[in-house]
Amino acid sequence: MLQTKVVDLQNLPPAQTVLNAAELAFYQTLKLQKRQTEWLGGRFALKQLLGTHLGYDFASFTLLTPGGVGKPTLTLDGRPLSIAFSITHSNGYAVAAIAPHAKYIGIDLEKITPRISAWKNDFFHPTERTREDDEFLTTLWTQKEAVVKLLGSGLTVNSYDVRIVHNAPQFLGHAQEIYNALGAPQITLQTTSLIPGFVFSVALAL
Ligand SMILES: CC(C)(COP(=O)(O)OP(=O)(O)OC[C@H]1O[C@@H](n2cnc3c(N)ncnc32)[C@H](O)[C@@H]1OP(=O)(O)O)[C@@H](O)C(=O)NCCC(=O)NCCS
Repeated sequence: MLQTKVVDLQNLPPAQTVLNAAELAFYQTLKLQKRQTEWLGGRFALKQLLGTHLGYDFASFTLLTPGGVGKPTLTLDGRPLSIAFSITHSNGYAVAAIAPHAKYIGIDLEKITPRISAWKNDFFHPTERTREDDEFLTTLWTQKEAVVKLLGSGLTVNSYDVRIVHNAPQFLGHAQEIYNALGAPQITLQTTSLIPGFVFSVALAL
């Protein structure tokens, strides 16, 4: 079953109570305080879910990203932990999700705000823009980011190569190669509000 945890970034515990030594060392290299807070908040959210689900303390889990950017890897007492998880942060909140029954997951949270035309044109293929209102475009954005996190590529793929049309993802070009390499799983998209004024999307592949 999908489990999510929302964390208010203004009420985080001290970093040393959440992060282990390896994570603290990386955390201290982050220059911007906002980035530190988001990085800590995502781990605080995820470790609460993992601790409840698996029964270990926070220090047992290590969530680091090789090279500092991209999809993080998760270990439990130094061994790779094979559980589908994802993290997002937006406007004062961090959210983590685990899906022990699923193979892959990606999540994304965004605040509903007006967007400029250049952003809409750059990010969405015309076939995706079946509506133009802020809530719809924010929904599309979260669904696309959730899908590229599920793929593990993030937005290193061309945003036109992952299209969300009528709530279903379509893949072209390099994104299609990545999707096929995962075994072309069936992806379902779920979108809710989660927090008033925000849109939250989950992409799941069983
Ligand atoms: C993945 C990506 C779409 C996330 O977008 P975002 O809206 O900025 O960030 P969110 O808060 O929703 O999500 C961030 C989390 O996604 C996760 N994440 C990052 N890259 C990921 C990837 N390739 N696959 C899966 N998850 C990823 C991380 O857990 C990250 O949080 P953390 O760094 O605190 O661990 C974006 O970071 C991306 O495309 N990155 C790849 C390209 C890149 O590195 N560009 C450099 C900056 S322009």
